[in-house]
Amino acid sequence: MNPILEVNGLSKSFGGVIANHNVSFSFKEGMIVGLIGPNGAGKSTLFNMLSAVLAPTSGEIKFKGQRIDRLPAYKVCELGISRTFQNIQVFKNMTVIENVMVGHHSKTKSGMLAAALRLPSALKEEKIILDAAMEKIKFVGLENVYDQNAGSLPLGKLRLLELARALATEPELLLLDEIAAGLNHQETREMSMIIKRIRDKGISIFVVEHDMDLVMSICDKIIVLDQGKKIAEGTPEEIQNDEKVIAAYLGEEVVENIEVTG
Ligand SMILES: Nc1ncnc2c1ncn2[C@@H]1O[C@H](COP(=O)(O)OP(=O)(O)O)[C@@H](O)[C@H]1O
Ligand SMILES: [Mg+2]
Repeated sequence: MNPILEVNGLSKSFGGVIANHNVSFSFKEGMIVGLIGPNGAGKSTLFNMLSAVLAPTSGEIKFKGQRIDRLPAYKVCELGISRTFQNIQVFKNMTVIENVMVGHHSKTKSGMLAAALRLPSALKEEKIILDAAMEKIKFVGLENVYDQNAGSLPLGKLRLLELARALATEPELLLLDEIAAGLNHQETREMSMIIKRIRDKGISIFVVEHDMDLVMSICDKIIVLDQGKKIAEGTPEEIQNDEKVIAAYLGEEVVENIEVTG
């Protein structure tokens, strides 16, 4: 089986800052893959390139064997990659269901004019989008708040809303950037169960996450970045015992210890 995602020699610089340096890896479809590394390691930058928010400085990205690193973001979305953001990006003045419908609209066929004229074709499509959006809302467990303004939701529910909207484009590969950041223990457990259910639907998942319990419990494979470079790749067990990984994280733990004792 060919890899669903293949990254070859990918680099990204911002002026003098090298956010990603010569990163290569690939994985097969149907996996949950983790991307970890200390703050500033280049994880979000890598996701921004995979979703075509940023163009690489050099290197290539292949999705299902096709080069996507020079395509615009909407094309990459159409091909089947969808994402959530580390800093939640929802429309706060719109309801939950309207936010999810925005995701679906990126794939509708009727034009803007048909929708504006409320032609039967557009109305029928609107109903299909509504039903599909509701299905995603139920899938993440937000049906009780589907008509509430997104701005009134607590963080845990906002993260679920972003997830529902990302699912609305019917992706084959889902990129989740710190999807459990700020969630409590119970919410994190629920999130990990939802992620596994998404994988069981046949969607591949690439997840950036700081919560090591979450990463180690759900991932089939883990890739580790440090200062823009890939320093390790392997199963959760291999990663937990990897000298380079332990060394990369040691700096962070020392800082935590100082905070605890001081
Ligand atoms: N748009 C940008 N402009 C300039 N520097 C950036 C930009 N985005 C990220 N960086 C820098 O690139 C490095 C990697 O950042 P990032 O990918 O956000 O790391 P991570 O998500 O692993 O914490 C950091 O040094 C960061 O300051
Ligand atoms: Mg980040």
